[in-house]
Amino acid sequence: MGIRVAVFGTGYLGATHAACMAELGHDVVGVDVDESKLTALRSGEVPFYEPGLSEVLRRNIEAGRLRFTSSYAEAAEFADVHFLGVGTPQKRGEFGADMRYVFAVIEELAPLLTRPTVIFGKSTVPVGTAAQLGALARELAPDGVDVEVAWNPEFLREGFAVKDTLHPDRIVLGLDPAAEGRAEDVAREVYSDLIDEGIPFLVTDLATAELVKVAANAFLATKISFINAIAEVCEVAGADVTTLADAIGYDERIGRRFLNAGIGFGGGCLPKDIRAFMARAGELGADQALTFLREVDAINMRRRTTMVDTTKRICDGSLLGKRIAVLGAAFKPNSDDVRDSPALNIAGQIQLQGAAVSVYDPKAIHNSKAIFPTLGYGLSAKDVCQGADAVLVLTEWEEFRKMTPSEIEGVVRRKVIVDGRNCLDPSVWRSAGWSYYGVGRS
Ligand code: UDX
Repeated sequence: MGIRVAVFGTGYLGATHAACMAELGHDVVGVDVDESKLTALRSGEVPFYEPGLSEVLRRNIEAGRLRFTSSYAEAAEFADVHFLGVGTPQKRGEFGADMRYVFAVIEELAPLLTRPTVIFGKSTVPVGTAAQLGALARELAPDGVDVEVAWNPEFLREGFAVKDTLHPDRIVLGLDPAAEGRAEDVAREVYSDLIDEGIPFLVTDLATAELVKVAANAFLATKISFINAIAEVCEVAGADVTTLADAIGYDERIGRRFLNAGIGFGGGCLPKDIRAFMARAGELGADQALTFLREVDAINMRRRTTMVDTTKRICDGSLLGKRIAVLGAAFKPNSDDVRDSPALNIAGQIQLQGAAVSVYDPKAIHNSKAIFPTLGYGLSAKDVCQGADAVLVLTEWEEFRKMTPSEIEGVVRRKVIVDGRNCLDPSVWRSAGWSYYGVGRS
C-alpha cells in the first residue's frame, strides 16, 4: 500500500514531485489554487515542456494513484504526508525571495489537519524559514494534532526533472529538534525505493538542509561565471576557452561539467537563488561572506551586454536597420522556460538598438511571445534567417548544433554566425565561407 501524499504547488517542482511520488507507488493528490493548471494536469497535460513527464503523469492518473484538487480541506483529510513545493520568486525590485506562497500553504493547511502530520518543505527558501514554518504550523494546528515540518530540498534540473526526482544524486533531510521526530521514519518510507537503490540519504538540522540547496546553486553559478571570466581573458589574449575548459576539466577536483562558456546562466533558479542567498546572509550579519556572488552575478549579466556589443561590432558598428536572426529563446535546451533567459534578453536588447530581430526556438516561442510580444518570430531556423545580416545561436538545442551551413546559407544576406554557446564547430562554418564568432575563442 502506498503512502497517502499531498503535494502543494503544481509548478515545475510540484507537478514533477507529485507525478514521481505516484510513480513510486504512493497515493497522491496535487494541490494548487490555479484552476487552469489543474484542468490541464487532470487531462494528463503538463503545462510546460519537460521530456518524459507527461507519460509519468498519464500513467499514474490512469492507474488511479494521482489526482489534482484545489481543495486544501480535501488534501488535509486525505494525506498523511504533505510536501510543500510552491514557488519562491525574487521580490520585485529587491534581492530577497518572496515567501508569501510558502507561508500561505502553512496558514491554510495547518488549521485543517485532523491527525499527526509531517510536512516536508521542498521549495528553495532563505535559511531559517523552515524553523519559522514549523512554529507557525504548530501554532495553527488544532489542539492535540501533532505537526512536524522537516526540510527536504529539491535539486531537479529542468529537462531532467523526472530522472532527477526518481534517481537524485542524494536525498537531504533537515529535522526540527523541536518536533516529535517522526519525519525521518516517514521520509525513509516515502523514499524507500531510492534508498534501496543506494542513493545517499543525509540527515541534518533544518538550517543545513536549507543551505545545502542554495550553496549548491551558488557553486554552480560561480563555476559558470568563473569560466565566463576566463573567456574574457582568453578573448584579449587570443586563447581558446573551450580547449582550456577541456584541459582543466580533466582534473577531477575541477571537473568538466558546468564549465561551458557562453552567454551565461538564466532560468527560474540560479539568478534568483544567488541573490536571495546574498540578501539572507546580509540579514544574518554575514554579508561579507557572499560579496563574491555579486561579482558572479555581474560577470553573468555582462555576458549579455557583451553579446549585444559583439553583434553590433560585426554589423559595422550599428544595429540600426539590420536584420538579426536569433536561434534559441529558452534559457537552456530541452526546456520551454524563458524566465530570465539570456537568449531572449539579448534579442530584446538588440531590437531596442534598432535591429529587426527574428527569433526561432523549437519549444519556447509561445512563452517568449507572452513576455516579448514585439519581437519577430518564425517557424524554423531557415525562416528567421531570411535576409539576416547575422545569425546568433543563443540556446544550444540539438537542432542548432547539428545544423549545417548549407541549410541557411541560401537565405542569409551575410554569412556571419555568432555562437553564443560555443556549441558549433568553427571549422565547419569557416570552411563554408562564414565568419564565425564564438565566446572566448580566438
Ligand atoms: C538549476 C540547478 O542545476 C538545479 O540543481 C536546481 O535544482 C535548479 O537550478 P536549472 O535551472 O534547470 O537547474 O538549469 P541548469 O541546468 O543548472 O542551467 C542553468 C543555466 O546555466 C542555464 O541558463 C544554462 O544555459 C547555463 N549554463 C549551464 C551555462 O551557461 N554553462 C554551463 O556550463 C552550464
